[in-house]
Amino acid sequence: MKASWVILHAVLALHISLTWSFNGELAELECPDDCDCHYFRINWVTDCSDSNLTEIPYEELSLNVYVLDLNNNRITSVGPFPADIKMRRLQMADNLMTEVKKESFAGLNYLIDADFSGNMITRVDPDSFDDSPGFITFELQGNPLDKVEGPFLSIKSLLYLDISNCGLKYLNPLFFANITALSTLDLSGNPLGVIDNKVLEPLSSLETLKMNDCNLTYIANYAFVSLENLKNLELSGNIFTTTDWSSVFDYLPRLEYLDLRYSAIKQLPETVFSNNTYLRTLILAQNELNSFDVSHTVGKLQQLDSLDLSFCNLSLPLSEDAFVNATKIRSLYLSGNSLFASDLLVALAPLSHLEKLSLSNCGLTRLPDTFHNFKSLQELDISHNPLDDAFVKLLTPLDKLEYLNMGYSNLSYIAPTSFSKMTNMRRLVLSGNEVNNLEAGLFGNLTRLESLELNFCGLRRAINATLFFNNLTYTDLTELQLAGNPLHVSKSGPLFPKQLSRLENLDLSNCNLTFLPPDAFYWTRNITTLVLRGNHFSTPNDLRFLELLPKLEVLDLRYNNLSTFSPKDIAVNPNVEKLKLIGNPWKCDCSVAELWDWANLEKGNLAILEGSTIGAEHVTVGKTNKRKKLLVCSYDTNKQPLPIIMNKTVPGRRPFIKPQRVLTSTNRTWAKYVRESGCEQPANLQRSPRAAKTDSEGHLRGSELEPNTWAAAAIKAAVVYITLMAIIGIAFVLAKKRRAPKTAAFDKNN
Ligand SMILES: *[C@@H]1O[C@H](CO)[C@@H](O)[C@H](O)[C@H]1NC(C)=O
Ligand SMILES: *[C@@H]1O[C@H](CO)[C@@H](O)[C@H](O)[C@H]1NC(C)=O
Ligand SMILES: *[C@@H]1O[C@H](CO)[C@@H](O)[C@H](O)[C@H]1NC(C)=O
Ligand SMILES: *[C@@H]1O[C@H](CO)[C@@H](O)[C@H](O)[C@H]1NC(C)=O
Ligand SMILES: *[C@@H]1O[C@H](CO)[C@@H](O)[C@H](O)[C@H]1NC(C)=O
Ligand SMILES: *[C@@H]1O[C@H](CO)[C@@H](O)[C@H](O)[C@H]1NC(C)=O
Ligand SMILES: *[C@@H]1O[C@H](CO)[C@@H](O)[C@H](O)[C@H]1NC(C)=O
Ligand SMILES: *[C@@H]1O[C@H](CO)[C@@H](O)[C@H](O)[C@H]1NC(C)=O
Ligand SMILES: *[C@@H]1O[C@H](CO)[C@@H](O)[C@H](O)[C@H]1NC(C)=O
Ligand SMILES: *[C@@H]1O[C@H](CO)[C@@H](O)[C@H](O)[C@H]1NC(C)=O
Ligand SMILES: *[C@@H]1O[C@H](CO)[C@@H](O)[C@H](O)[C@H]1NC(C)=O
Ligand SMILES: *[C@@H]1O[C@H](CO)[C@@H](O)[C@H](O)[C@H]1NC(C)=O
Repeated sequence: MKASWVILHAVLALHISLTWSFNGELAELECPDDCDCHYFRINWVTDCSDSNLTEIPYEELSLNVYVLDLNNNRITSVGPFPADIKMRRLQMADNLMTEVKKESFAGLNYLIDADFSGNMITRVDPDSFDDSPGFITFELQGNPLDKVEGPFLSIKSLLYLDISNCGLKYLNPLFFANITALSTLDLSGNPLGVIDNKVLEPLSSLETLKMNDCNLTYIANYAFVSLENLKNLELSGNIFTTTDWSSVFDYLPRLEYLDLRYSAIKQLPETVFSNNTYLRTLILAQNELNSFDVSHTVGKLQQLDSLDLSFCNLSLPLSEDAFVNATKIRSLYLSGNSLFASDLLVALAPLSHLEKLSLSNCGLTRLPDTFHNFKSLQELDISHNPLDDAFVKLLTPLDKLEYLNMGYSNLSYIAPTSFSKMTNMRRLVLSGNEVNNLEAGLFGNLTRLESLELNFCGLRRAINATLFFNNLTYTDLTELQLAGNPLHVSKSGPLFPKQLSRLENLDLSNCNLTFLPPDAFYWTRNITTLVLRGNHFSTPNDLRFLELLPKLEVLDLRYNNLSTFSPKDIAVNPNVEKLKLIGNPWKCDCSVAELWDWANLEKGNLAILEGSTIGAEHVTVGKTNKRKKLLVCSYDTNKQPLPIIMNKTVPGRRPFIKPQRVLTSTNRTWAKYVRESGCEQPANLQRSPRAAKTDSEGHLRGSELEPNTWAAAAIKAAVVYITLMAIIGIAFVLAKKRRAPKTAAFDKNN
């Protein structure tokens, strides 16, 4: 698994960061004129992303920069960086680099991660990171790499490599020869065609290997012979027509997860997994398989927990023996096979340990009435079947069920007694059915319900009190999803009845709302997360209902029509810790600065405003879409020409220092607008004199953390650090033990 890699990564990062931060004074932290800089945890982040840069502002960088984020600019070449820079992480996704050259990275002794995904890179110097002894992550996905001769990289410390979608057609036998520590490798989306015996041989530490969509037809018998530590293998989206499966997986004694989805597999030999005794998850979906073969194949897998046979065109009738030897399975996915109730009745009978069963998309019009025989069955998915109510009655005996998904099942009527015995139900999904006229008392007996999903149900009214018993409070019911219903709301009156007074999470996204009445949440004042994304709210006046939500923590107003919003509008919600506002047509005016100052100074955390600054999600390895969603405002386009950037210096705000420039676009990120606006900070909210002090050149000095917070953070980090070092020590000893008795190398030519 990735876990060990993540831990190691965290420790290395912490280790290095602590080494410098405790070395006396924090050095002066500079910030390039075009960028925004701040602390993320205890690390200095220089965020120059999405800034239309053509060059890296080398001279303006702080030598103590921890993360340099240059994603999504137009930079063509890199480095060398200033000597002694202590950069740990370099993010350059979505730029115009064409080469990775050794001299670019000279002297980067502290570098741990580099992300060059989505550039135009054709070649990489194998020894590019020779100066970075702790280099562990390299992301290169989405570059048009040329054919590689000899070793691709020589990095002893490298643990994570993503070279997916790089157009690689061939891997030479030395390709991985000098990155033998690798623990995660993603090769997906390269048209490799075949995997020969020698290619993967150096990767004896590998734990996760992804080769999805590689146009693979053939994997050689001994291709995986040295991958004795592999736990996760993904091979979906290939066309395995010529592979002989009888021994390919024999050398993977630690395999836990195998994905062979959509790979043109017709048959698997009975012994194919005989050495994979730890296999827990097997995905065979979207292959043309015969259920009887499947039974033989999986029958011996003692640890198998989850089997996915979705869309496998399972032969009919489903044999009585189909699962006779697969009795250990706890999760079974049979979605997308045309099944009959009568077959299921016999075929599923041996699966007495079944906890989760998915029968979605099975063309079922009725259900077998044996579900009560599955004593352990907790989760049942029968969504996307053309059900009618006559048979819904057959569910009635399922009194143990905790999760039932009946979404998208053509239900227009549900008999009032359907759920009356399901007193253990915790999550009920009825999304995608036109159920405008639900019967009184339908949910009455669902006294343990925690989550009710009624998305896309054509509902015009929220929830009618009569659906519940009026003498009860549903104390566990904390989540309600009503997304995608074209709700009609009146000028006043609560949306939800008092039975739902424990509601905490409410999703009303895409409900065609232009307002909600001020007393909308009269009975449901415990709400902490309110999602109003994708509606038509246009003025904060229509948000007065917030006054009844003193416990509100997360407010999602993304993709509405708001052009202005001020801290006053959520003054009555003191616990707000996340405000999601991107995708609204914000006007560039001082209310933007006001909200910024509220988050930064009053709440002490700019990250409360989603899209204002770099957050944890932007410092995470392996995300496919590197583009940040930013808070953007627009200058009034009627005023021509566009305003020139002001350089009025306002106390506490960092001015632009370069000569005046003319705007090329009316849209500005909030971060840039706040700096150039000249909007004053509210006097009572100005930062402490030390933090607000700017040096002679106008750089912000010091950190966004106050000194005592700093100390606290450092102490906390030190404790975490020591603990982690201890854990790692133990882990290393264990790992060594585990790997020590390496079996004699197999003679592959034999
Ligand atoms: C980026 O810069 C180029 C010229 O350097 C300019 O033509 C273009 O409009 C700029 N794009 C934005 C979004 O500012
Ligand atoms: C790379 O691997 C080859 C073959 O395993 C070895 O001869 C060579 O010394 C290695 N080079 C480096 C820089 O590690
Ligand atoms: C994948 O293989 C098929 C036939 O084996 C071939 O027609 C196709 O061009 C290949 N795709 C790529 C991207 O190489
Ligand atoms: C696979 O298992 C069989 C017996 O179950 C054993 O004889 C054989 O050596 C194993 N193969 C490998 C490569 O471990
Ligand atoms: C189930 O296992 C038994 C004993 O191992 C074996 O005889 C039988 O053939 C197996 N049945 C199927 C359908 O795999
Ligand atoms: C609700 O459940 C109770 C106890 O299980 C049962 O006695 C009662 O009949 C049920 N109510 C309805 C309307 O079915
Ligand atoms: C609630 O449902 C009852 C019938 O079940 C109906 O008479 C009443 O008008 C509904 N109330 C609302 C507000 O829709
Ligand atoms: C609540 O009312 C329903 C019918 O409306 C009844 O079946 C149930 O027993 C009542 N529960 C309590 C706790 O009074
Ligand atoms: C959405 O609301 C508008 C009025 O606010 C109405 O004209 C329109 O029909 C509604 N759309 C749907 C799908 O109900
Ligand atoms: C909020 O929940 C608490 C229990 O967590 C409950 O006592 C209280 O009545 C609820 N508040 C409202 C307004 O319903
Ligand atoms: C500016 O923002 C508006 C909406 O906020 C958007 O419609 C427009 O496309 C943006 N213009 C540019 C050049 O990005
Ligand atoms: C600010 O603008 C004035 C003219 O408007 C100019 O004289 C001055 O040099 C500018 N200051 C900076 C730091 O660019």
